[in-house]
Amino acid sequence: MKYKKIGDILILDSNYDGEDYLSLSKKHKVKTIMKIDHIQGTKREPVYRILFGSETETINKENGCLFKLDLSKVMWSKGNNNERLRIARLVEDNETVIDMFAGIGYFSIPIGVHSNAKEVHAIEINPNSYHYLCENITLNKLNNINPILGDCMQVTPKFKADRIVMGYVKTTHHYLKVAIDSLNKGGIIHYHETVPEKLMDTRPIERIAAQAGNRDVELVKINKIKKYAPGVEHVVIDARIN
Ligand SMILES: C[S@@+](CC[C@H](N)C(=O)[O-])C[C@H]1O[C@@H](n2cnc3c(N)ncnc32)[C@H](O)[C@@H]1O
Repeated sequence: MKYKKIGDILILDSNYDGEDYLSLSKKHKVKTIMKIDHIQGTKREPVYRILFGSETETINKENGCLFKLDLSKVMWSKGNNNERLRIARLVEDNETVIDMFAGIGYFSIPIGVHSNAKEVHAIEINPNSYHYLCENITLNKLNNINPILGDCMQVTPKFKADRIVMGYVKTTHHYLKVAIDSLNKGGIIHYHETVPEKLMDTRPIERIAAQAGNRDVELVKINKIKKYAPGVEHVVIDARIN
C-alpha cells in the first residue's frame, strides 16, 4: 500500500514516489495530499507535510460511523478498523463501558452506533482529539457517550464498568491497576500491548495478573492487530477479571 485515503484527503507513505500530485488528486478525488512523517508524544500528535492543497480537516466513514478529524492535529490510527468493529459487536445490551484512551472516538463511536450499551465514558487527554470526540458524538447522533477531558490515570470513573477498552500501546500496563479497580466482577478489559512474538503468550497476561491482586484473571482471547516492528506485534488481550 503506497497511500491511504481518509475522507477526502490522501496520506502517502513516506517512501511514495509515484505520479505527480495534481494527477493523483484528480484520480482519487481528494482536496489535499499529505505525508505523516511520524506521530509524536503521549498525545499522539502528527508531524506532517502538506504536498497538495491546504485543508486538513475531513470526515472519514468507516464501519457505518462518521469520524471528523483534522489530520494536522490528531492521528488517524490506521490498521485498527476490524478491531473497532469487533469490540463494538462484543458489547452486550445495557453494558457500562469505559474507553480510557478514546482519541476522536475510534472505539466509543462504533460502540455507540452498533451496540445497545447503557453508557460509554470516553476519556481523552489531548484537547484537539477531545474536540473531535465531542463533534463525532453529535455527528453520529449518539446520546449515551460521556466525553471526559483529562488523564485517565486521574479521571477514570471509580464505579464498576462491565468493559474497559485500553487502546493505547506506549505504556498501557501502567494503567492496568486503575482499569481493574473500575471493573465489575466478571468484567472484561481489552488491553493493548506491543509485544515481542516470543513473549506474546506470557508477558501481557502476566502484567494483567500482577495488577489484579487476588482477583482471578481469565484469558479470553489474544487478538493480533498488526505488525508493529520486526518481531514485535500489536496485540489486544481480552481478559475477564472475576
Ligand atoms: C493512539 S490513540 C488510539 C486511539 C484508539 N483507542 C485506537 O486504539 O484506535 C491513543 C489516544 O490516547 C490518548 N491518551 C494518551 N495518554 C492518555 C491518558 N493518560 N489519558 C487519556 N488519554 C490518553 C492520546 O491522546 C490518543 O488520542
